[in-house]
Amino acid sequence: MKLLILNGPNLNMLGIREKNIYGTQTYADLEAFVKESCKQHGAVCEIFQSNSEGALVDRIQQAYFDGTEGIVINPAAYTHTSVALLDALKAVSLPAVEVHLSDVSKREDFRQISYVRAACEKTIAGHGFEGYAMAIAYLTEEREGGKKA
Ligand code: DQA
Repeated sequence: MKLLILNGPNLNMLGIREKNIYGTQTYADLEAFVKESCKQHGAVCEIFQSNSEGALVDRIQQAYFDGTEGIVINPAAYTHTSVALLDALKAVSLPAVEVHLSDVSKREDFRQISYVRAACEKTIAGHGFEGYAMAIAYLTEEREGGKKA
């Protein structure tokens, strides 16, 4: 299965930004973790990070044409603001899972809204890097064998 792992703004600053919330592991560590997790689940993955909303929209659109079969997306701050990302996910209509490192449900009020959630089959938050592995497992195994296949 071919998966696209998308990460939004400031996630490239992992290991530097708000370590009390996001931990000390770096973005390179996250990439290595995701690659290993995809390998374990027999998936081919491409990982893309951008601080730009338009670049993320472009990459989601590209996924429609390049054979991508599932999307794991941590839209970061764009979660709470972006109708454009929601529309892009709806446009390509690929199975998608929303992931957040932190437990957004226990944070500020403005983080309680997720626009992309409406286009995602599942939301996983508060499990750190492991949340990506859970999303990859869902798309590669649970979903295929389950009622959503
Ligand atoms: C985040 C949570 C968002 O609210 C925040 O803007 C981020 C990261 C997370 O992974 O916990 O940048 O998506």
